[in-house]
Amino acid sequence: MDRDIATRIAELSQQLHLHIYQYHVRSEPLITDAEYDRLIQELLALEAEHPQYLRDDSPTQRVGSDLSGDFSKLRHPAPILSLANAFDEADLLAWEERNLRLLPAGTQLSYILQPKLDGLSIVITYENGSLARAATRGNGETGDDVTANVKTIRSLPLRIPVDSSSGDAPDWLVVRGEILFHKSDFLALNEEQEAQGLPAYINARNTASGSLKQKDSRETAKRKLTAYIYAIVDSDGAQIASEWETVKTLRRLGFNVISDAARYENLDAARKVLPDWEARRDTLPFEIDGLVLKVDDLALARELGVVGKDPRGAIAYKFPAEEATTTLLDVTIGVGRTGKLTPTAQLEPVFISGVTVSSASLHNYDQVKALDIRLGDRIIVKRSGDVIPYVIGPVAAARDGSERPITPPDRCPFCESQLLQPKGAVDWFCGNASCPERVGRALEFFVSRGAMDIEGMGPQTINALIEAGLIDDIADIFTLKAEPLLALEGFAEKKVDNLLRSITMAKERSFAQVLTSLGIDGVGSTVATLLTDNFASMQELLEAAEAIRAAEAEFARVVEPIVAAADSDNPESDRQIARLQQPTTDLVPQYLDAADLNQRMTRRLKPLQLSADEIAGISQSLASLIAVSRRLHTIEGLGPVLVENIVDFFSDAHNRSVLAKMLATGVNMRAEEKAQAGDVLAGKTFVLTGTMSQPRGALKTLIEANGGKVTGNVSKRSNYVVAGESPGSKVEKAAKLGVPIIDEDALRMLLND
Ligand code: IVH
Repeated sequence: MDRDIATRIAELSQQLHLHIYQYHVRSEPLITDAEYDRLIQELLALEAEHPQYLRDDSPTQRVGSDLSGDFSKLRHPAPILSLANAFDEADLLAWEERNLRLLPAGTQLSYILQPKLDGLSIVITYENGSLARAATRGNGETGDDVTANVKTIRSLPLRIPVDSSSGDAPDWLVVRGEILFHKSDFLALNEEQEAQGLPAYINARNTASGSLKQKDSRETAKRKLTAYIYAIVDSDGAQIASEWETVKTLRRLGFNVISDAARYENLDAARKVLPDWEARRDTLPFEIDGLVLKVDDLALARELGVVGKDPRGAIAYKFPAEEATTTLLDVTIGVGRTGKLTPTAQLEPVFISGVTVSSASLHNYDQVKALDIRLGDRIIVKRSGDVIPYVIGPVAAARDGSERPITPPDRCPFCESQLLQPKGAVDWFCGNASCPERVGRALEFFVSRGAMDIEGMGPQTINALIEAGLIDDIADIFTLKAEPLLALEGFAEKKVDNLLRSITMAKERSFAQVLTSLGIDGVGSTVATLLTDNFASMQELLEAAEAIRAAEAEFARVVEPIVAAADSDNPESDRQIARLQQPTTDLVPQYLDAADLNQRMTRRLKPLQLSADEIAGISQSLASLIAVSRRLHTIEGLGPVLVENIVDFFSDAHNRSVLAKMLATGVNMRAEEKAQAGDVLAGKTFVLTGTMSQPRGALKTLIEANGGKVTGNVSKRSNYVVAGESPGSKVEKAAKLGVPIIDEDALRMLLND
C-alpha cells in the first residue's frame, strides 16, 4: 500500500516537472492549466497525508518563475507569496475550518472578496512618494527589473499621494498588483494590428507579459496596459489593521484599486455571492480566473502564517477551467468578403465552462504552421468570455504517428481561382471579385446593421436573390423591382413591399456609412469618417485613387530599367530595389515632407550607383506620386498599409463599375456639410448602446453637430449613456459609476433645451 503511494508520488512528481518545464521554459504546455492543477492538487494531498515521502525537490516545493536573461534582477523586500487554490465551496469550508483550529476558540472571521485578475504580478516600491522600482514576481525572492517599462503605465501613479490634500504617503511603501489589458484595449490593439496588415495577438495575458518585457520602454508605452494594486507588501507608515483598510488606503494614495472588492461578515455571506460573480465574469472589463478571499483582520491573518509559499489567510477560488483538450477532426475553409481565407478547426465537441465547443478559430495558415497542429491531434482549446474559442496548441506527447499535416489549398474552394498571398501578408486571398462566396459575404455585410442596415435582407434572402440571378453585386440591390421578386418562392406582396421600402431608405444613408458598408479591409466607421472628413464625395476618392495608381505606374516605368540592371548579389542594393518597388507603402510616407528630394535620393540610392539623370528621374516621379498621395497620407490615423488598401479598392476596375452603378441608382455618395446645429451639448460626452430607432451613426452625427462628443467606452468622465433596446454591459458599468442612463427621447429633450 505504502509502496503504491510512493510510486504514485514519484510518478506525479516526474510528470509535473515535465509540465513545469514545458510551460515555463519551452512555452509549450502539454496539458491545460486545469489538468495541471488537478495533478498538483493530487500530489499536495498525498504529501500532506504522507509527509515521509515529501522531498525537497518535489514540484510542490517551488513556484514558477518569469525570470529572463534580459533584465537585471531586483531582490524583493519580503517574499512575494502565492495563493492556494479552492475549486468549490467545500474547499472554502475546509479552509476556514483549518484556520479556525489554529486560532483562539470563539474567533469569528470576516472576509474581503475581490476578483482574481488574470494578468502579471508586479511589485512596486515607492521611496519618499516616488516610484523608485518595479519588479516582476520572478521566483518570489527576486524578479526582473522592469521599472522603465512599468513607468509608462498611466494608471500607475509615479508620485503618491496623487492628490496632495488626501493625507501623507509613507516614506517607504512596497505595493503589489497586477498588470493586464482591459478587454476593450486588447480588442483595439488587435484592430490596429489588422489595420496595419499585421497578425492579431491571441492571448491577452501573454501579450501583456510580452509588452512588459520589451527591451525598449517606448514599445511598452505604445500598448495600453492597466495596473491594479491590491496589496501592501511593506511600509513604514501607520499600521493598517485590515484588508478593507488596505484597499481604502491604496485608493486614497491614488492607486487604481479593483472597485468591486466587498467585505463580508462571515464565510456564509461571501459564499452567497459566488454564483453572481461567475455569471458576471464576462461583463467585467478585464479577464479574471477566479476570486480571492482574504481574512479581513490582518493581525489574525499574520497569526495564521504561511504554508510553503501560500499565506493561510487568503485563498484563490478558481472558476471552472476555460481550457480543454479535444481532437482536431478537420480544418474547413471560409472565404470572407475581402476574399480572405480563414481556416477553422472542427473539433470533437467538448464542454468548456458551460458551453459545448465544436469549432475554433485558426486565424490563418501562418498560425496553423506556427501552432504545428495536425489532423487527428489532441489539441488544447481555450474559450474566454465572449471571444470565439481558439486553439492554444497540440499535445505533442499524445501523438501516435497517424496525424496528418494541414496544407493550405492552392485554389479557392468556392470558385477554383488561384489563391494569392500579398507580399508581407500572413493571409491568403481569393482574388476573384466575382467569387460567389465573396459576393455573398460582401452582400451580407453590406446590408447588415451598422452598415447599410437594410431590413428584410437576411442571408437566406440574399442567397435566394443570387440564385435567381437577380443580384450579382451590391449595386444590384438598388435596382430590384417588385415583379421578379414576387415571382420567387416565399416572396409575398407584403414582404416585397417592405424590402423595397427599406432599400429606398438605405439610399439616404450617410456617405461615411456607405463607405463603411463597402467592407474595405481596415475601413470601419472610424476610418470611414476620417475619409469623409477629407473627401467630399465618392467621386473625389475615386479620382484620388486613380491619380495615385497612374503616378505609381509612371514611377514603376522610371525605375523599371534600374530594377532590371540591379546587382542582385548585394543585399543593400536589394533592399533599395525592394523599396523602389513599393513606393506607396515605403517611400511616400517617409519622404512626404522631404525638403530636397533629389539630395535625399542621391544618398539613399548610393548602393545602386546610379547616374545623376537617373536619380533626377526617380526624384521627379516620386515627387509627383507624393503630390497626388498627400491628401490620403496626411490623414492622421491612416497608416501606409491602410492607404494602400483604400487605393487598391477604389482603383479596382470591378469595384469602380459597381460604385458607378450605385451612384446611378441614387445612393448617397456625398459628405454632408458639417453644419453646426448648435452647441447645447458642448462639453458633454455620450456613450451609445443598444438598438436605437435609427442607426447609431446618425445619432452620433446629431450629437456632434450639437457640440457633444461620442465615445465607445463608459468611464467616470462620461456624462450620459444613451441606451436603446437590449443594451449591453455598458449600462451596468454606467450604473456602477453613477453615470446617468437616458433613452433616445431624453436625448432629444436635451437637444431642445
Ligand atoms: S493577493 C499573498 N489579490 O494571483 C497573496 N492576488 O494565484 C497576495 N492575483 O500571484 C496575492 N488578483 O498575482 C491577490 N485580487 C488579488 C489578485 C491576486 C490576481 C494573482 C497574484 C498572485 C496569484 C496567485
